[in-house]
Amino acid sequence: MRTQVGIIGAGPAGLLLSRLLALQGIDSVVLENRSRSYVEARIRAGILEQHSVDTLTEVGLGHRLHREGLEHHGIYLQYPGTRHKLDFPDLCGRTVWVYGQTEVVKDLIAAQLDGGPPLLFDVSDVTPEDVDTDSPRIRFTDADGNPQLLECDVIAGTDGFHGPSRAVVHEAGGGKVWERTYPYAWLGILADVAPSTDELIYAWHPEGFALHSMRSPTVSRLYLQVDPSEKIEDWSDDRIWDDLATRFALDGWELQTGPVTEKSILPMRSFVSSPMRRGRLFLAGDAAHIVPPTGAKGLNLAVADVTLLATALVRLLKEGRSDLVDGYSDRALARVWRCTHFSWWMTSMLHTSGDEFDAELQLSQLRRVCSSEAAARELAENYTGLPID
Ligand code: FAD
Ligand code: DHB
Repeated sequence: MRTQVGIIGAGPAGLLLSRLLALQGIDSVVLENRSRSYVEARIRAGILEQHSVDTLTEVGLGHRLHREGLEHHGIYLQYPGTRHKLDFPDLCGRTVWVYGQTEVVKDLIAAQLDGGPPLLFDVSDVTPEDVDTDSPRIRFTDADGNPQLLECDVIAGTDGFHGPSRAVVHEAGGGKVWERTYPYAWLGILADVAPSTDELIYAWHPEGFALHSMRSPTVSRLYLQVDPSEKIEDWSDDRIWDDLATRFALDGWELQTGPVTEKSILPMRSFVSSPMRRGRLFLAGDAAHIVPPTGAKGLNLAVADVTLLATALVRLLKEGRSDLVDGYSDRALARVWRCTHFSWWMTSMLHTSGDEFDAELQLSQLRRVCSSEAAARELAENYTGLPID
């Protein structure tokens, strides 16, 4: 088998890269080690920045997003006694959209299987090889158990945090990793109940952070800060709803409850791996970096990475010019660090540790963001997404 770009991983990064390249006349093959149903059912992020919506629309995937997605004009920041709306169009002229990552992935897979480049599910033993040469290869075993070799001009490692590509970059030596684990986790639920709010609520509370998000006019998505050692079996639906009601409490407002259809606990970490390239292997998305979820940057960063990478690969493969691929890692990492800072900052401002000094600093910062237009604008610009360049 031969292709121009061998893509490892059919998450949002790999699938969108394949589509961006196809629209520019560049062939690719996407290799995914899970099944289609598994990939389409994975519940993850929910907020798309303006540039992610624009990108998906430009590649012809905006129809369902614009029909079923919910455009949001701001968020509420809450601390006891106060729920303050930050109005994004007023502050920075941009909005965000609620549209689940599962829906983005379903749209990308449907387009790919409808005449797009090959997408192989259920492959195994995926190994990038010869990445320091001009003809790298991917060895893998196909769904029927046959060994295969995919010859490429370039390999994209879009295989998420646990995929094989990042280790290949680091085998060359000279790479660096930065990591921060946080002493909190999020317990997330999906519930069949209309959202109790028009905009997302990010709530600071002495008992811990809570976030009220949504997926549709009839489905709510809510999160509670919990200790990372907590076990999901110890959290009955009643206990979750009680804690959510306590943390979101506000005079004259009530949290509506409903059947919980999914619940899980997510660890929180920041992780950045540099460089995002070795020879003809390029990393994008969670393969190179992880942010804590506060601020909803993970999926949007994956979109931003592959937007840059696609432009750079088109220049290399169509014009034979390497300037953009040579600059890819530094340009992508500049945005990665901006989002890493923003996610760390939102996380640090909103999650309680039991330390009374920290709590006063957090409340002071929250009052500042809710009273200073300059401070609010800084949050709004980062939340809605800075320009890709
Ligand atoms: P992924 O979506 O991880 O895709 C990588 C793909 O590669 C997967 O399909 C995987 O199966 C495949 N793969 C892995 N190994 C191999 C291999 N050996 N061979 C072939 N294929 C392989 N972000 C937010 O902004 N908000 C959130 O609320 C949020 N919640 C999250 C909850 C969870 C549980 C997780 C894990 C992440 C969450 N994120 C969230 C982060 C966001 O979902 C990711 O940033 C986003 O999925 C990154 O996309 P990606 O394509 O880079 O990686
Ligand atoms: C969602 C996740 C986030 O991390 C966030 O900051 C906002 C919303 C969500 O899953 O809806």
